Amino acid sequence: MRDPITVPAVKVRKGGPKLKMTTAYDAPTARIAERAGADIILVGDSVANVVLGYEDTLSVTIDDMVHHTAAVTRTRPSALVVGDMPWMSYHLSAEDTVRNAGRLVREGGAGAVKLEGGRKRLDMVEALLSAEIPVMGHLGLTPQSVHSMGGYKVQGKQVAAARDLIEDAKALDGAGVFSIVLEGVPATLAQLVTKEVSAPTIGIGAGPHCDGQVLVLHDILGLSDGPAPKFVRAYADLGGEASKALERFFDDVQTGAFPAEEETYHMPEEAISELLREEGPSES
Ligand code: KIV
Repeated sequence: MRDPITVPAVKVRKGGPKLKMTTAYDAPTARIAERAGADIILVGDSVANVVLGYEDTLSVTIDDMVHHTAAVTRTRPSALVVGDMPWMSYHLSAEDTVRNAGRLVREGGAGAVKLEGGRKRLDMVEALLSAEIPVMGHLGLTPQSVHSMGGYKVQGKQVAAARDLIEDAKALDGAGVFSIVLEGVPATLAQLVTKEVSAPTIGIGAGPHCDGQVLVLHDILGLSDGPAPKFVRAYADLGGEASKALERFFDDVQTGAFPAEEETYHMPEEAISELLREEGPSES
């Protein structure tokens, strides 16, 4: 058993051994991530498109996120579990934001929450921190902004946008977030941000200079459908393996090779004789 990974334990990893983060949305994936030694398990709103079949992340609700976060924390991982705040759960008022994040902590069992955006969301970040809810920031290609970004596009490629992102990161850092996810930004910009902020940065499509890396678990394991972004590396083809295993099962069903003797339950001989006596001889 590892020591539990706490928010302070994540903070002190700045510039140290790289933080290892992945997603999980249910008990089996949480156990897989924990056994592999994840420092942080993110119950991402990517559950929307990865698992629930939605086009984007905008459809999941705070109820969905509480449900999935609780499934993950019931496995009691040592990794820090971060619950993602879905779109519209932290946009209306500070009160609403704290109430929603409080549900991820109290009902979902999360140790922290993540939300997208920088200076625009600073009031909400501060409200959460003053309610003792640790916050992970998320800047760059923020999927909840898909419509305002005009699609899933790398952010901060030009000087003004890069400066803007650095200012957002500094604002989040100043407010006291314990880490910042940098998604879909050029490596040089991620390196600059990583140097400028005291919170560890965790990259996804942000080059090698961040204090940690995150990928969606289903992408790592080859369980996702459709073309993957350039930054994804699949370390297995579990989707392909799973289909092959099922084909073998269905073949065995067709040929009668399944179930075998050792996969079959039997009654005691006397019970069989008595039952057959009562039922009479079989007609076939
Ligand atoms: O929802 C998610 O999976 C995320 C990660 C990709 C950082 O936000």
